[in-house]
Amino acid sequence: MIEKKKVIIDCDTGSDDSVALVLAMLRPEFEILGITTVNGNRCVEYTTENTLRVVEFMGNKWPVFKGCGLPYVSTMLGRRPGYPRRDGSGPANNAGVHGDFIDQLPKATIKEQDKPAVVWLIETLMAQPDHSVTIIPLAPLTNIAHAVHIEPRIVDKVKEVMYMGGGYIIGNKSPVGEMNVWMDPDAAEVCMEAGFQNWTFVPLDATHDAYLTMDDAERIRAVGTKEAEFIADLTAQRIKGYSTWQKVKEDNAAPVHDPLTVAALIDESVLVDCVPAHCQVDCGGGAAYGQTIFDMPAINGRLDALPPNCRVALHADRIKYVNWIIDTLEQAKARS
Ligand code: BDR
Ligand code: CA
Repeated sequence: MIEKKKVIIDCDTGSDDSVALVLAMLRPEFEILGITTVNGNRCVEYTTENTLRVVEFMGNKWPVFKGCGLPYVSTMLGRRPGYPRRDGSGPANNAGVHGDFIDQLPKATIKEQDKPAVVWLIETLMAQPDHSVTIIPLAPLTNIAHAVHIEPRIVDKVKEVMYMGGGYIIGNKSPVGEMNVWMDPDAAEVCMEAGFQNWTFVPLDATHDAYLTMDDAERIRAVGTKEAEFIADLTAQRIKGYSTWQKVKEDNAAPVHDPLTVAALIDESVLVDCVPAHCQVDCGGGAAYGQTIFDMPAINGRLDALPPNCRVALHADRIKYVNWIIDTLEQAKARS
């Protein structure tokens, strides 16, 4: 009997969040305590609906809690163009990489739980032993920052955080701003100051190393399950969207960011060169707005760097990642 990791997934579903959810739900190593949603790729009403669609598709075994609809410092809404609005209007994110809804799945017939995500996070974490829960944030950190602000003792309940966010060379919303952090830099800075043990950043630099090609999508589809087909379709959608938005190292390819965190929790060797760092987030409103500034003594040799508050993966192994996705789908098929 394997001892399961108790995990909470915080997401803004989203095409790559959907893939992460499906793969996490298929892994027997995880006990998913619940899924929290947040404003991000689209407004929280949409990201919640998308999350419910995925939960229903996968058998409706996990509670979903709707989270914050505005960034931590809510007056920042509109400070930058591109924020999804509460009614779902506003510029569509990333040229069709996500779309509004996960159109591959029918409208959800299930509903989110009554309890707000931040309340559920606090209650759930406080009921757990110290250092026992893994958090997988795949979105702006608004829910987690609010939970920490209201009940700082939750930090001690967390064993590890595997976060898709940030970048040290690559940005996507700006030259230095990664979407999840850029959407709510104040929340990210609150989390960096909170004293979490074992916080790992899986930044764009790692996820862009671990891009998927159309050939990979077809290898995934060939597994022949409904989950494989869903992931292959979303990967193809992302490749099409990325072709007019951001290049990776090959043509006809795109990063599928969020599931790299899930893979790393099962096989950390998908992350390459994971180094300790002190991370600060620029909340200033200038050109570096939303930048994750990583002070990495192993790289820059700075002897007076502040003590590390995280690790950051500088690279990733794309072949291992693709094989891990296929292996996860194959193992689930064999069990069914
Ligand atoms: C991150 O931003 C979102 O668009 C994706 O879902 C991912 O979590 C990548 O920058
Ligand atoms: Ca996401």
